[in-house]
Amino acid sequence: MNISVVGLGYVGAVCSACFANEGHNVIGMDIDAVKVDLINSGKAPIVEKDLEDYISRNVKAGRLKATTDLKEAIDNSDITIISVGTPSEANGNINLQYIKEAAKAIGEKLKEKDTFHIVSMRSTVLPGTGKNVVIPIIEEISGKKAGVDFGYVSNPEFLRESTAIWDFYNPPKTVVGTMDENSYKIFRELYSFLNAPYFEVEIEVAEMIKYADNSWHATKVTFANEIGMICKKLGIDSHKVMNVFCADTKLNISSYYMKPGFAFGGSCLPKDVRALTYKAKSVDANTPLLNSLMSSNEYQIKRIYNEFIKPLRSKKIAVLGISFKPNTDDLRESPILELTELLIGKGYKIKIYDPNVLKAKEEGANKALLENELWHINEKLSNNLDKVIQENDIILIGNGSKEFADVIQTNKDKTIIDLMRVIDKKSENNYIGIGW
Ligand SMILES: NC(=O)c1ccc[n+]([C@@H]2O[C@H](COP(=O)([O-])OP(=O)(O)OC[C@H]3O[C@@H](n4cnc5c(N)ncnc54)[C@H](O)[C@@H]3O)[C@@H](O)[C@H]2O)c1
Repeated sequence: MNISVVGLGYVGAVCSACFANEGHNVIGMDIDAVKVDLINSGKAPIVEKDLEDYISRNVKAGRLKATTDLKEAIDNSDITIISVGTPSEANGNINLQYIKEAAKAIGEKLKEKDTFHIVSMRSTVLPGTGKNVVIPIIEEISGKKAGVDFGYVSNPEFLRESTAIWDFYNPPKTVVGTMDENSYKIFRELYSFLNAPYFEVEIEVAEMIKYADNSWHATKVTFANEIGMICKKLGIDSHKVMNVFCADTKLNISSYYMKPGFAFGGSCLPKDVRALTYKAKSVDANTPLLNSLMSSNEYQIKRIYNEFIKPLRSKKIAVLGISFKPNTDDLRESPILELTELLIGKGYKIKIYDPNVLKAKEEGANKALLENELWHINEKLSNNLDKVIQENDIILIGNGSKEFADVIQTNKDKTIIDLMRVIDKKSENNYIGIGW
């Protein structure tokens, strides 16, 4: 394929050299003539393992060259990869100056082209930037329509400096978001040399994945450092702790607990986070990340009321599932129980259905708890699911019990607030998902 790369910094130089190395004709473009001259003379514009070798071999083979002339780059390619910088503004916001300038210049050149051209965003840009900023600029200036006359692809970069070439060939994943089948097809072919997970998603999903990734990586580093700080104060070898921690690929280094949903609760997580952060404070280990967990979790409960329940007209709510997760009667620190208490306090008329807690009402450890401390919950429990639903206007799905999926399917006349994504019905008007 014929590929142009706009912006020859860390990402652009590596992409250019590697795509050329895969046999494509690559023309790199940068406004910085020094970088352009370096590449044309077979030298790397940045320090990166093996890059100079890749550049010199491919320049010599005639598959790679660089220019400051965008027209030359666009005219001689069918795909243009944008890899200009997206630094921070003083207030933290993303600075799109280079992206906008590149988009305007590309729009000008596309005006003069009559073949289908793909513009691929490799730079990291916030969700919505493709559809709300870059595409409108290119469309307005070129007079062409995205998805019809030209393709727009969001294809975030996952390389790490210092291992960039190895990462190019061994990415954790490839993510491609676009709006037309032709662009998906061309990118499938472009990346056919890779043996890595490949995801085709919407443009905004592709854009957001990169931010979820980097925020998660930052969270991991900060988490490990805070555990290290506490360990140091307590005379414990943090590397021994984290080695064992990381060996747990069921609960720790896994997809478990990683689905957006409702607050955490139960008999362990809240009490143990509280105990560890108290201990950290007592030994002067400053742990802002760990300290933020309980307040962020409490906010999750309040926001369900403020964002989703308060704006509704009705005050009649059926709560399905009151224990902190399905298949248990454990009510200790159940966040849905806290939310229900908040609603009762605000005058909502509540009915609760939870077969496991109902069982505990007859016998078991929670009998006394329900009768003596949670009598305000006890009196609202019912074993008649149909009646609980019929008598109310809003259905609050409180835990992930499978039987609640049927309730969502069959009750189209009720407003359903799903805290767990028991089922994917976000396209339906009566369904409210709290994080999707
Ligand atoms: N560096 C990384 O490890 C890395 C990894 C993944 C993603 N990213 C993302 O990739 C993007 C690029 O990062 P980078 O580190 O390569 O940036 P960089 O600053 O090293 O390079 C950007 C290049 O773009 C050029 N440029 C600016 N405006 C231009 C224009 N109008 N036309 C042509 N060239 C122009 C600059 O001269 C510069 O050479 C950023 O969005 C970054 O967040 C970077």
